[in-house]
This record gives sequence, C-alpha cells and structure tokens, in this order.
Amino acid sequence: MYCGIDIGTSSVKAVLIDDNQDIKAVATHALSVSRLHSLWSEQQPEDWWDGVVAVLDQLAADHANLMSGLRGVGLSGHMHGATLLGADDRPLRPCILWNNGRSEQECLELEKRESRFRSLGGNIVMPGFTAPKLEWVRKHEPETFEKTKKVLLPKDYVRLLLTGEYAGEMSDSAGTLWLDVAKRDWSDPLLAATGLDRSHMPLLVEGSEISGTLKPELARRWGMKSGVVVAGGGGDNAASACGVGAVRPGSAFVSLGTSGVLFVSNDRFSPNVDNAVHAFCHAIPNTWHQMGVILSATDSLEWLSGVLEQPAAKLTADLGPVSGPAPLMFLPYLSGERTPHNDVSIRGAFAGIDHGTDRHAMTHAVLDGVAFAIRDCMDALAAGGSKPDSVMAVGGGSRSEAWLSIIASLLGIPVEVPVDGDFGGAFGAARLGICAAEGTDPANVCSKPTIGKVFEPVSEMTTSYDDAHNRWRALYPALKEIRL
Ligand code: XUL
Repeated sequence: MYCGIDIGTSSVKAVLIDDNQDIKAVATHALSVSRLHSLWSEQQPEDWWDGVVAVLDQLAADHANLMSGLRGVGLSGHMHGATLLGADDRPLRPCILWNNGRSEQECLELEKRESRFRSLGGNIVMPGFTAPKLEWVRKHEPETFEKTKKVLLPKDYVRLLLTGEYAGEMSDSAGTLWLDVAKRDWSDPLLAATGLDRSHMPLLVEGSEISGTLKPELARRWGMKSGVVVAGGGGDNAASACGVGAVRPGSAFVSLGTSGVLFVSNDRFSPNVDNAVHAFCHAIPNTWHQMGVILSATDSLEWLSGVLEQPAAKLTADLGPVSGPAPLMFLPYLSGERTPHNDVSIRGAFAGIDHGTDRHAMTHAVLDGVAFAIRDCMDALAAGGSKPDSVMAVGGGSRSEAWLSIIASLLGIPVEVPVDGDFGGAFGAARLGICAAEGTDPANVCSKPTIGKVFEPVSEMTTSYDDAHNRWRALYPALKEIRL
C-alpha cells in the first residue's frame, strides 16, 4: 500500500493506492487562503500540518487494515511558497503563496542584480516565485530575514514534520529560482543574489528517490509498521504529470485547479523566457518540463460562485453544454497573470454585459475566459517550439464537460479524461512513493491511465472560438492602459 499526500491551495488530500495502483481510500481536509492586503496571499504552515494529521487520522480510523500495509509515502504540494523557519524549526511568519503579487519591485531588482536567474534559473523572475519573496522579506521584515535558518517549500515543510529531514526535490526546488535547473543542483550565485547560501536550503533528492522515513511515533499513531519511506515527491504540477503519465518527452496535460496549467514534458532543460513560459525540472530523473501557468482557473469560477451564492458545480450543471462563445467576455486576472503577460497588477473584467446578462451567461463567460487564457499558454509554448498532440485533463474543473469541450476546440487538439479515479497530484505522489519504496523505474510506474472520454475539437466551435479569442486578446492591452 502507498500513500500520496497533496498540500493543495484549497485542501489537503491523501490517497491510498495498492500494488496495482488502484485507489483504495481518499481523505480531504479544507484549507483557506488569507489575503490581508491587495496582492498578498498567505497560509499558515501549521494549517497544512493540521490538515495532514486530520486526513491520516481519518484514514487510520476508517482503513486500519490498509494503513498497516503502508510501505511508501509521496508528497505533492502547491509550488513556490516561502516557508521561513527559525532555529527551532518553527515558521517565522505565514507562508507567502504562489499567487502572491507583492514582490514586483524585488523581481526587477533581482533581474538587474543577477542576469543568471534567466539563464541558470531558466525563468523570468516573477512575484509568485520564491526568490523575490525572500528579497521582499529581507527589505520589509529584516528581523525575520535575519532569523531565517531554512527556507522550505510547503510540501517540504510537511516532510520535515513527517521525517525530521530537511529535504527537497528537483521539480519544486526549480520553482524557487535558486536552482541551476540544467545541473539539478542549488546555484550559489542565485542564492547569493538574495543574501542566502546552501545552508538555508534542504538537501536535494529526485522525486522518485527516498528522502527519509516516517518518524516512529507517527507510524505508531497511524497504525503503520516501522520503516515507511517518504519519496522526494514533486511540486503539484510535476506530481500530477506523474499521475497522468506525462513523463515522456512531448506528453502533456492541462490542469484546471485553483491555478490553470498547460504542462509539457521535455528530455532537456528548455527555457522560453520571452513568452513567460516556466521551465523547471520534472519529478523524475533526467527529465524537465515547460508550463504555461494562469493564476485563477477554478479560482475564477469559485469567485463567481461566491458572488452569486451558488455552488460552482451547480453553476456549470445549470449552464449545460455549450456550442459557441458566450455573448460577453471575462478576463480571469483576479490575482494578475503569469503566462503570457507576467503582470501582477492587471485585474479581471467582464466586458459586454447587457440587460439580458444572467448567471448562465456569466458562468459561460468565466469558462470561456479561463479557456482563452489556457489557449494563450498554448500559443506561448508553441512560440518556443512545444506543441503537444493531445492533453490529459486533471483538476476539479475537469469535471465540467462544457469546459473541456471549449478547451479542446480552442487548443485544436483532443482533451482526454481518465476513465475514473483522480489522477492529480496526490495520485502522482503515491506513484513516486512506489518508486522510492520498491526501487522501480518511474517510467514504468507512471504510465498513462486508461482513457474514459475524449473531447475532440469541433470545427464550428474552433472557428467561432478562434475569432472570439482574437477579440478577447485585445482586452488585455486596453485594460492595462486604463489601470483600474
Ligand atoms: C505553478 C503554480 C501553481 C501552484 C498551485 O507555477 O504556481 O500551479 O503550484 O497549484
């Protein structure tokens, strides 16, 4: 038995899978995000740990027989979060999350100070990444910066509490911008640019390797035998890629989670900074990936659901199937945007509202707007030479058939949905747990799941959506101009 634990932005999720990779049990625990000021986005690291304990307590209570056979754990988590620990390993402040926007100025300063962030780090310095957040803390909270002994990513903080080890792995660590991504090692000059050195960083392993073993007292609490190994795991996107078998060069997936991601695996480090594409290590050895990232995918729908006081699932169910673009347009820039704009100050908009605009039209426009932004990611990847032939869909938003059919028509490629089960970060992490516990080759473990349904592009929809996408793209420069 193997367990994958995903520290998501909106929930902690644990899955148990058996030797055949069949999902045997799932437990979740909700999390919230605190937004104290505009551009801020934070979580308390203690809340992740409470969530992990809650889901494992629940699995131990409901599935003692499965837990007693556990051999490996894998971790996945939202990327880029700056978790600052003092000498006693306690968090010094709330974690600054991946959709943070407060460090725009620091990004410009770091880019000026050290051009190798783009060459060695492979990415534009963006406010969501970890390095500029540390620069922000150094400037605005110098006492906290001075006390910082370790900087860990969210899942790596959970690992510390599970195993007592300071360990990270390549896929998530690349998202700090302190990694020499081609060499898969910390970069001394990139760390030095933010006043840090290797002593502040965890040791690095590959996602499929052993990073430590579960503390005996925790193993006892959850009814496990001793010696349960914890794999390196992956950032949530690389872990999801392991879950859907997107590990061979060119294989791809689209994720409709809080963020939206178009992810392509590569056999080498392939930066594409001109188009604000992210280029990171994959969670398995000798593999890298590129991705276009949008900051508010299901987050946009959740926002609308909050405003309309109706569950998101009801909004999409009531909308039903769609055959063309909505009569109004939505820009999903609730927290700014990464790919392709790298613009943290831009904000979202509805355009084209009239007396007839109702909740169906607004829901439809939100689905369209997110799909247009995913299409922007596809164009950004294609401009650097990456064009997948098909994508697998993961994340909560992939339960909406309307959304997937819009995305298939806009991307012009088939969108595949696994036959059943949940193939996101937690499942991928559990697969990495198998690799670490059994020493199996990740390429064999991380196979493609059986496809249940394929959404093919529909030619009339492609025509009307291409046209709508062209008009929608004109809204960003107009909005940028007026700076709401
Ligand atoms: C990727 C990114 C998000 C988070 C949250 O760069 O910031 O996808 O990992 O899911």
